[in-house]
Amino acid sequence: MAFPLTINGIQYVVDVEPETPLLWAIRDTLDLTGTKYGCGIGQCGACTVHVNGQAIRSCSIPVSAAVGATITTIEGLSADGTHPVQLAWKELDAPQCGYCQSGMIMSAVALLQRTPVPTDDEIDNGVTNACRCGTYHRVRHAIHRAAALMSTPPADSGGSSDDV
Ligand code: FES
Ligand code: FES
Repeated sequence: MAFPLTINGIQYVVDVEPETPLLWAIRDTLDLTGTKYGCGIGQCGACTVHVNGQAIRSCSIPVSAAVGATITTIEGLSADGTHPVQLAWKELDAPQCGYCQSGMIMSAVALLQRTPVPTDDEIDNGVTNACRCGTYHRVRHAIHRAAALMSTPPADSGGSSDDV
């Protein structure tokens, strides 16, 4: 069956079975391979994307449930890797092997949208993705850094020029 999907602002039509996990449509049909397959059972978070702004484990919802939704994958977060969360990740060297990290970043962005300055506990409860490399400490640190970047207005936003 044909299902229309809106991903990263682009309209696609995928021809798959209705119960096909959204992850397969994203990765295998549309070749958006930034979203990863880890466990396939909703546990690890490697497949996290945003569906209507919520972090969703895309291995665990069928394509048919995503029709009409606004879907964002890691490819759609920014055109050039300059989303504040991506900048914080790079600045603090959060990844090790990197496999889990696009899911981590998508979960972190969703957390920061609902909790702009999260505590360590809110990060631990809000980003439950698994990382086999054990980068949790660096990820937590990077989320705090991203929160700071997101709360600081850009230098040219009309603020004081006293410190130029
Ligand atoms: Fe979806 Fe692990 S692959 S939660
Ligand atoms: Fe290797 Fe997380 S960085 S699995």
